[in-house]
Amino acid sequence: MAISKDDNELLCRTGAGTPMGDLFRRYWVPALFADELPNPDCPPVRVQLMGEKLIAFRDSMGRIGLIDEFCAHRGVSLWFGRNEECGLRCAYHGWKYDVTGQCVDLPSEADETGMRSRIKLKSYPCIEKAGVIWTYMGPPELKPEPPAVEWTEVPAERRYVSKRLQESNYLQAIEGGIDSSHVSFLHSGGLKSDPLFRGAKGNVYNENDRMPFFEVVEFEGGLLIGARRNADDGRYYWRITPWIAPFHTIIPPRGGHPLGAHMWVPIDDERCWAWSINYHPKRALSSEERQAMQDGQGIHVTYVPGTFIPAANKGNDYLMDRSAQQSGDAYSGVEGIAMQDASLQESMGPIQDRTREHLVSTDNGIIMARRWLQRAAKANREGKPLPSLDPKAQRVRSCSVELPKDVKFKDGAKAGIFAPPNTDPVSV
Ligand code: FES
Ligand SMILES: [Fe+2]
Repeated sequence: MAISKDDNELLCRTGAGTPMGDLFRRYWVPALFADELPNPDCPPVRVQLMGEKLIAFRDSMGRIGLIDEFCAHRGVSLWFGRNEECGLRCAYHGWKYDVTGQCVDLPSEADETGMRSRIKLKSYPCIEKAGVIWTYMGPPELKPEPPAVEWTEVPAERRYVSKRLQESNYLQAIEGGIDSSHVSFLHSGGLKSDPLFRGAKGNVYNENDRMPFFEVVEFEGGLLIGARRNADDGRYYWRITPWIAPFHTIIPPRGGHPLGAHMWVPIDDERCWAWSINYHPKRALSSEERQAMQDGQGIHVTYVPGTFIPAANKGNDYLMDRSAQQSGDAYSGVEGIAMQDASLQESMGPIQDRTREHLVSTDNGIIMARRWLQRAAKANREGKPLPSLDPKAQRVRSCSVELPKDVKFKDGAKAGIFAPPNTDPVSV
């Protein structure tokens, strides 16, 4: 069962004015790291989100501006601008803008014309939370409460956040994030060797049962995607991946390792940011764990220096190692969980042609997420209330659990999914 070209377009396009773009703009989205703007009057940073080219800067008072990249005068990029005295000044003729996009100085025109006060660039409100600058690009009167996904609420020492450029549409990245079935294949080598994955009993279940049964349950924040595999003693091993709409996923834990999470945020229709988070709800990350994350293990990567572009990337065939593929150390020959995913998702093309796919029952989570997005985009167009905007709806976490065969995961795993803060993850 494939989807139509029109449905694929609707799901993938997020530019301003598109149905999916309008839906995404109802939520706070991560724009950049807070430390990309380390101090007042530091250099501005280019930010592109959902096709919109913007410039981020921190003014002399420490306030964050996220405004149109291009000067209202004759369209020069404000990336070249001078960040000084509470505003960003265009390097061409000196027009100056404050964090709201308002032109505050127009030195190339006499003041009597009143022109300055009429010049205002597009700007979006920003907040800083959990080391990330988030922005809201939707209708001002509909701005929701700040995001409250669990990793944003824990103390900094319990959290590690990275981001990498992915050269594909956001949707095929999300679809990878909720597709638990590929783990038994693509990541089979990594489960044994990666310091942030190895040593969990669940890994054995993952390896032994390559045909998980999927059960998907709606909750007020999106979907709970349960993947069921056979476990010992006549029980089932469940991995529950919450998809917190529209772009957040939380990876089910393994043993005592920290939880992993992702945000998949469109840069434009053919690229996205893969934000990758590890956190532990109850304890600080150990220095070994933090070091492994910095070294690009687990869901993180190493970079082309000075960029967020992975060192193994499309341009160098992801440093494919055919001998590792042959030996099974890396099922696909690409090293590292993150680039194993990204390489295959990018290989689908910038926007996967979903009219040609052949979905099977392990793709149920993906089918449901697409339907959810289509339904929500329609509801948004009709002015109906949207799920997942309420911070309370976002307070879920992933879990992995062994359950008797006659227990439904939404009952048996409930305590693990809707767990109170400061508690250990439920994990096998
Ligand atoms: S183009 Fe910016 S001031 Fe002229
Ligand atoms: Fe994966």
